[in-house]
Amino acid sequence: MQGKRILLGITGGIAAYKIAFLIRLLKKSGAEVKCILTPASSDFISPLVVSTLSGNPVGIEFWNKEDGSWNNHVEYGLWADILVIAPLTANTMSKMATGSCDNLLLATYLSMKSKTIVAPAMDLDMYAHPTTSRNLAQLESDGVGIIPAEDGELASGLEGTGRMAEPETIFAKIEDYFESKKDPMIKGKKVIITAGPTYENIDPVRFIGNHSSGKMGFAIAERFLADGAEVVLISGPTKLQLEDANLTLVRVRTAEEMLTEVQKEWESCDFGVFSAAVADYRPADVAKEKIKKTEDEMSIRLIKNPDILLWAGENKKKQVLIGFALETNDLELNAQKKLHKKNLNFIVMNTLMDPGAGFGHDTNKISILDDRNNFRSFELKSKIEVAKDIIDYLKNYSS
Ligand code: C5P
Repeated sequence: MQGKRILLGITGGIAAYKIAFLIRLLKKSGAEVKCILTPASSDFISPLVVSTLSGNPVGIEFWNKEDGSWNNHVEYGLWADILVIAPLTANTMSKMATGSCDNLLLATYLSMKSKTIVAPAMDLDMYAHPTTSRNLAQLESDGVGIIPAEDGELASGLEGTGRMAEPETIFAKIEDYFESKKDPMIKGKKVIITAGPTYENIDPVRFIGNHSSGKMGFAIAERFLADGAEVVLISGPTKLQLEDANLTLVRVRTAEEMLTEVQKEWESCDFGVFSAAVADYRPADVAKEKIKKTEDEMSIRLIKNPDILLWAGENKKKQVLIGFALETNDLELNAQKKLHKKNLNFIVMNTLMDPGAGFGHDTNKISILDDRNNFRSFELKSKIEVAKDIIDYLKNYSS
């Protein structure tokens, strides 16, 4: 569950206290957890417990009374890989079934881009009531995953069906969901991704670099991992972090180091995505000591760096190879030339001219040209969504 973003919705039932254990299980497995409480649920579990265990502020109201700031349900919906509502009371269940939206959790449910699963909990007669069955059937047909209530002793002292599934069961269902989302075309496949800039040393304290943040390459790695790929991410200097059991993150500095790492892995690879902004040239000589400022002018002689993508294209066998093109003019013409010269399967184009696209931004606007002469333009999107578009294109291309 490393790196998965789990949004937990907690409603006002006695089983809410058990959610502390679920948060612990999720955090131990490496997931990121954020929680939204309905106003009634803080009578059953303290927001302080939830925020301390999850390591994140808790959302309850649409706005925070202390500082007047807004809890953005749309942002929650975009952030989460899954929304898990546990315990789900009869009240919130019926509101979800009818689209009612009078608290932050319900508004977030309606804003969710990803799956919602729920673990109902109530007294046996409430659970057995035809209204409850009807509401549950409605949620199911709306695509909500239901973790059925279990048999046993209830808070009322009665025995029957209505107990919330145990935290371990809910945890296992969340794991099953992520497992089921892995794409058979990508699952178990090996991918090399290059990301970030390269730094080419001038002397011990100076280098030639560029503004690449690495965000695009890291987002692509994240998407491949979500689909169950084995990812080797070879990154130039960046502050970004990523952890996953199926990820090997190799940090390099120069183009030559990046090439060496690519060469080690290329033969056993299925896909290569080369998104790094590799410096085309490096200083011919790296000064051993810091260069002093003596002259009014100085020049640095540059020599060509190896073209890593070209090397991969020349040594391509079964692999599908994807390159990137960042141009300021004649984008399509240059991309087409690159596609052929570097023996690529497809090329992802972006331009610094599009607002919000390119270096450092969280968004990007791309178009794709493939070696079968297909061309497709995409809207401006978050880099995570762009990564999904690129991988979807790859799946289509390879099927
Ligand atoms: O030729 P140009 O540098 O514009 O090509 C960009 C593409 O080539 C990107 O996919 C980039 O990662 C890759 N590249 C490379 N090694 C270089 C230069 C570019 O892998 N030395």
